[in-house]
Amino acid sequence: MAQLKVGYPAALPAELIQLLPTEVELIPIPSNPEAEIAIDFWIPPPAAALGQKIWPHLRGVTVAQSMMAGTEWLTDLVGPSVTVCNAQGAHSISTAEWTLAAILAILKYLPLYRDLQQRSEWCSRTKGSAVYAAIHQDQRPQFPPFMQEELHSKRVLIVGYGDIGKTIERMLEPFGVEITRIARSARISPEVHPVESLDQLLPAAEIVILILPHTPQSHGLIGARQLALMPQGALLVNSARGPIVQTDALVEALNAGHIRAAVDVTDPEPLSADHPLWKCPNLLITPHVAGSTPQFSPRAIKIAVAQIRRLLLGEPLINIVQAAQAN
Ligand SMILES: NC(=O)c1ccc[n+]([C@@H]2O[C@H](COP(=O)([O-])OP(=O)(O)OC[C@H]3O[C@@H](n4cnc5c(N)ncnc54)[C@H](OP(=O)(O)O)[C@@H]3O)[C@@H](O)[C@H]2O)c1
Repeated sequence: MAQLKVGYPAALPAELIQLLPTEVELIPIPSNPEAEIAIDFWIPPPAAALGQKIWPHLRGVTVAQSMMAGTEWLTDLVGPSVTVCNAQGAHSISTAEWTLAAILAILKYLPLYRDLQQRSEWCSRTKGSAVYAAIHQDQRPQFPPFMQEELHSKRVLIVGYGDIGKTIERMLEPFGVEITRIARSARISPEVHPVESLDQLLPAAEIVILILPHTPQSHGLIGARQLALMPQGALLVNSARGPIVQTDALVEALNAGHIRAAVDVTDPEPLSADHPLWKCPNLLITPHVAGSTPQFSPRAIKIAVAQIRRLLLGEPLINIVQAAQAN
């Protein structure tokens, strides 16, 4: 039987190449191939733009094993004749940690205090208390003034209860929060609500975490109606994909002072310098960085290696997001 040909990003560092199996033919794929390259199994670089440059030069690919959990660009690129697998788990820890960090940053008013630090300003107690009063629309006297908030006992709605959603839940548990879960389909233990219950569950949620894939079904899932259903001052955290939230509706809800948000992902990406999101109040933006840590690539490559071994042993692949359709 012909040896399996595995194409991997030529830029992969030596210590990661060493993880790849030796019983296959390993073919480094440059970022700018000049000729056609025949491979069976493709590990695309973890960047859509690079993958799009490479794909037209590849021949014979039957399996594309993404290094990432999100694979929208890859399925679009390779078409239905290629099996596409994601790297579920490769960035669960990093993305869950980002989510926790973003929630705590917002509740502890870190962006406010960082802004004051950059102005060498030791803030008076009234700065934090004014933020609290404004976002909660609560003008009652504070005694003493509130300089930040607590995560403890908050009601958290996790939308998407896959690998990352579960990791976020485990990390949140020590904070003594009250968690409600939503996925595509309902489950009993632990209780997971179907996505159809979203509108019903939003009014009780003080923190809403989006951690589901971007699909035609989740596109624009959070619009003006859903944002209006969130309680005054609630926090929307998007660690998933930008187009799951309708950007115009988000801008409007933030400018109205109704909610606050922390987003690692936006629609569009990148945001142009004049995009209205930059200037919205009560918003923390990071430029799609949540999954990216030094630990990510070794995990992703180990997932690819496990898939290659399955193929060599004749076992079924796992994490299939698209099974190849016969021509
Ligand atoms: N910001 C970043 O850098 C970053 C990094 C990594 C991943 N992500 C994003 O995070 C997403 C989730 O990753 P994961 O590894 O946790 O995926 P996963 O293990 O496949 O889990 C996805 C979860 O989302 C649920 N879901 C799918 N479609 C839904 C819908 N229309 N409405 C409600 N729930 C839906 C699934 O429901 P069922 O369980 O019922 O199927 C499942 O619980 C990825 O697809 C990616 O887009 C972002």
